[in-house]
Amino acid sequence: MKIIVLTSWLILSVSIAFSNAYMPLKDTELESIASQFPPLEYLNPLDDGGLLQPFLIVRIPGTENSTKVQNHVNDFFIKQISQGQNSSSSEIPMWKVTHDSFQDSTPIGDNITFTNICVSRDPELAINEGDKARTRKRLTLAAHYDSKLYPEGFIGAIDSAVPCAILMYVAKVIDKALTRKQAFLNENGVGNENNQLGLQILFLDGEEAFHEWTSTDSIYGARHLAARMENEDIENVDGLIGSGLSSIDTFVLLDLLGAANPRIPSYFSETHDLYNSMRSIQKRGRNIKGLFQHKRRESNFFSSPSVSENVHFLGGTLGDDHTPFWQRGVPVLHLIPNKFPPQWHHLTDDVDHLDLRTVHDWAIIIAAFTAEYLELTNFILDQ
Ligand SMILES: *[C@@H]1O[C@H](CO)[C@@H](O)[C@H](O)[C@H]1NC(C)=O
Ligand SMILES: *[C@@H]1O[C@H](CO)[C@@H](O)[C@H](O)[C@H]1NC(C)=O
Ligand SMILES: *[C@@H]1O[C@H](CO)[C@@H](O)[C@H](O)[C@H]1NC(C)=O
Repeated sequence: MKIIVLTSWLILSVSIAFSNAYMPLKDTELESIASQFPPLEYLNPLDDGGLLQPFLIVRIPGTENSTKVQNHVNDFFIKQISQGQNSSSSEIPMWKVTHDSFQDSTPIGDNITFTNICVSRDPELAINEGDKARTRKRLTLAAHYDSKLYPEGFIGAIDSAVPCAILMYVAKVIDKALTRKQAFLNENGVGNENNQLGLQILFLDGEEAFHEWTSTDSIYGARHLAARMENEDIENVDGLIGSGLSSIDTFVLLDLLGAANPRIPSYFSETHDLYNSMRSIQKRGRNIKGLFQHKRRESNFFSSPSVSENVHFLGGTLGDDHTPFWQRGVPVLHLIPNKFPPQWHHLTDDVDHLDLRTVHDWAIIIAAFTAEYLELTNFILDQ
């Protein structure tokens, strides 16, 4: 990603009326995330059966290593995550994985293959006769899985192996809760619209420039996918229409997470409330025994909740995978430290420079945020 100085300053203070679902978890539910799914057991960088370690290789788009990483993601969502649950034999929709593969010209070759991995899990929707066609809505979580060509041997542990592995961890944490909620809705009726919110997880390819960051040498995957989603109707399931792009309720982008002392400002006024919701998870969670590894207020990952302290809303000035989505009107919550960690684009962005306590706390925060957004309160605990 890259700081871009915009020649024409965009006015970002327009307040867009969009209604997010959101329901805070109870303290016991927050606590249970850490105890049932200890983040560092899932995200141990040295465990080759874990979620993180398979990302920690050089993974240039179109190479065999990139395919290995894709297989890791596929296997997790198709074979492992819902073990014991079988989508074709149950009433509960499971995870769907599709690949968005395409070729593009790059400074190192004209036909480089890129592959975005798009994972989704949508609730089964009840459409009553006479209902107007509705657009499916999803919370979208994204990170890029490619690594940078230079310096040679660069594996991008924070950029963005850890963010990708955290997204898999989130899916693991909420998988059974989604199943329980769907079973409940199947029995009791759909209720409100928030129960129709799905989840999409995007593992984007080709974020990094091959040579130097320009509008054509960067974010290959995100540019392709945003354009594609704009032009396609989401599969016309259950009478739902609308472009794939309009199905995105909020686009949450994780980038450069896993180094010590992150500080994330609120980049977009449109998602400032969600930013504060995420911030409050960390604040509340400090009082819950055993939830976080960082317990002191000074280690807050987020800035003050007041709008005045985030007044600059720097979102439009930072080029990253969200850009082609944001330019098409999608609300974005960008989770990237300002400033970037010192390891950024150096060979030191490796396992030795991960701060595992920070990785731990990010995993809990993102998982809890996702569960709150999808209103999984009352479904998180295994009871
Ligand atoms: C594949 O990953 C390994 C481990 O990071 C690395 O040594 C090797 O050079 C990579 N291969 C390619 C073609 O990038
Ligand atoms: C899932 O269930 C279907 C039908 O009961 C069966 O044919 C299929 O082999 C099962 N798949 C797995 C992975 O267990
Ligand atoms: C790249 O692929 C396209 C379509 O597959 C083909 O028409 C073109 O000749 C290829 N270019 C090169 C340089 O291989």
